[in-house]
Amino acid sequence: MISIKSEREIELMRQAGHINYLTHEELKKHIKPGIRTEQLDKIAHDFIMKHDAYPSCLGYEGFPKSICISINDEVVHGIPGKRKLKEHDVVSIDFTVRYKGYESDAARTYIVGSAPKEIEDLVTNTYLALQEGLSKVKSGAKIGDISCAIEKFARLHHLGVVKDLVGHGIGTNMHEEPDVPNFGIANTGITLKEGMTIAIEPMLTLGKEEVCLTDQDDWVIVTEDESPSAHFEHTVLVTKDGYEILTGE
Ligand code: MF3
Ligand code: CO
Ligand code: CO
Repeated sequence: MISIKSEREIELMRQAGHINYLTHEELKKHIKPGIRTEQLDKIAHDFIMKHDAYPSCLGYEGFPKSICISINDEVVHGIPGKRKLKEHDVVSIDFTVRYKGYESDAARTYIVGSAPKEIEDLVTNTYLALQEGLSKVKSGAKIGDISCAIEKFARLHHLGVVKDLVGHGIGTNMHEEPDVPNFGIANTGITLKEGMTIAIEPMLTLGKEEVCLTDQDDWVIVTEDESPSAHFEHTVLVTKDGYEILTGE
């Protein structure tokens, strides 16, 4: 069952999304060579708690930290720890914020300092792939319209499209129906309706699409060919004529 949110629920999701946005803005100031990923985790944890919200990755199926930080060939679910950011690293930060029972989910990818042009382009084009997907969202459109737009854009730029992980519905749970894949065929899949809330999240690589777990821990997912990857995500509300980004400014 895909839930349609009431006006009251939408307002709570806006608030959850806004705290998520503010937390990303706070973290952005600290993305510098030398900072340990566990320091970023603490900054986010304290910031979210201070806003009377909860960093709902913490404890989710046993995830041990408040945010996911995935570096270079790590695609998603990197666990913050002693590792220090260094110049040229590609750093994806992804987390959920729960406020009064409602979830918000957003991810951004940064380059520490600068990087070779093809890596800068990977990050820019993953951001633009999310915009392509968003542009298809409106009541009456199909999930496949979003999927197809993201895949087309990624392929045009010769990027790998991670297929093992997908976007999703979101509400009182972090992950709800429907799945929102980053590949597919236009005009297929379920029809979007006003009041649905979904997380769209392209994960693209500079190489092949295959990903796997490592023997490091049960969480971090890396590219099989060790190519760098990028990830952008927004939680959005489907409206009559388009969409409202809930995790934006
Ligand atoms: N934020 C992730 C998503 O985009 C899920 C986080 S997994 C967790 O769906 F274990 F960290 F919670
Ligand atoms: Co996320
Ligand atoms: Co998500």
